[in-house]
Amino acid sequence: MPNEELKKAAEAGWDEMSETYQRDSRISVDDVHYAPLGPGERELGLIGDVRGKHALELACGAAQNSIALAKWGAFATGLDLSKNQLAHARRLIEQENVEVNLVRGDAENLAMFRDEAFDLIVSSFGVEFVPDLGECFRNCRRVLKAGGLLIICTAHPLAAFEWDEDQKALIVTDYFHPPVEVWGELSGTGRKGLTFFRTLEAMTGLLADAGFALQRIAEPYPYALPEMTEEEKVEKIAYGGPFWEGMYERFSRVPFSIVYKAFKV
Ligand SMILES: C[S@@+](CC[C@H](N)C(=O)[O-])C[C@H]1O[C@@H](n2cnc3c(N)ncnc32)[C@H](O)[C@@H]1O
Repeated sequence: MPNEELKKAAEAGWDEMSETYQRDSRISVDDVHYAPLGPGERELGLIGDVRGKHALELACGAAQNSIALAKWGAFATGLDLSKNQLAHARRLIEQENVEVNLVRGDAENLAMFRDEAFDLIVSSFGVEFVPDLGECFRNCRRVLKAGGLLIICTAHPLAAFEWDEDQKALIVTDYFHPPVEVWGELSGTGRKGLTFFRTLEAMTGLLADAGFALQRIAEPYPYALPEMTEEEKVEKIAYGGPFWEGMYERFSRVPFSIVYKAFKV
C-alpha cells in the first residue's frame, strides 16, 4: 500500500480510536511517559533540564508529554495527524493552564518548521505508525539545532509477538521479521491501518543513516504493581490504567517499549 494511503488510514484510525484510547489509558500530564506501567522521565532522566528549550513532540496525541515539558519550562510544540487527538490535547492544555503550540501534520514532513528550530524532539508510541521513518528522522535532523536531542519511545520489536497465557511465555516465531500488525477495518473508510515493529538493528540503522549518534537505549521495566496502592499507581505511573494493568505479567517478562536516545551529529 502506498505511504500516503497508510497515513490516511492512521489518521482515520486515530480519529476513531481517540475517545477509547484517552479513556482507557491513564496518561500523566506531569511526566514524559516511556512505557506502560513503567517509569517515565522523572525517574529515567533521559532528557534532563528543559528550561528555556524549544521542544517538539511528534505524534503527540493529547499532548500529555508536551504539557509536562511546558510545566518544566520548555517552549513546547505538539504535532499529530489526528484532529480528534488534537481536540483532546486542546482540552487538556486549557485544563492544565499551560502554553503548548499544537500543529496538525505528518511526522514524515516537517516542512512547517524552519531549520534548527528545536533543541529537542520527543515521541512516545507514535513512530510505529509512520511508514517512512527514514524520512521522518532526516527531517528531525533538519529541524534540530546542532547537538540537538532526539528521544524516540516506540513499540519494542518483541511486542509484535503473541503472549501465551497458559505457558506464560512469548511465542517468538521470527524475531528478524516481526509481523506488521494489521488493524481491523475502520468504519466507513474501507481502510486498515498498520503498526510497524522494527528491530533494534533497523532502528539504529535508520538513526545512523539520518545523521544521529545513539547514546543510550532504555527498555523500561514495570513497577511492582501488586505491591502498589491505587494512590501510588496514580502518583508514579506515567502511562497506566486498567487496560495496561491486565498485561502486567507479560510486561514484567518481556519489554513492551524501547527508548532510543540520540544526538544530531
Ligand atoms: C498511540 S498514539 C500515541 C499518542 C501520544 N504520543 C501518547 O503517547 O499517548 C499514536 C499517535 O500517533 C499519531 N500518528 C500516527 N501517524 C502519524 C504521523 N504520520 N504523523 C503524526 N502523527 C501520527 C496518531 O494520530 C496518534 O495520535
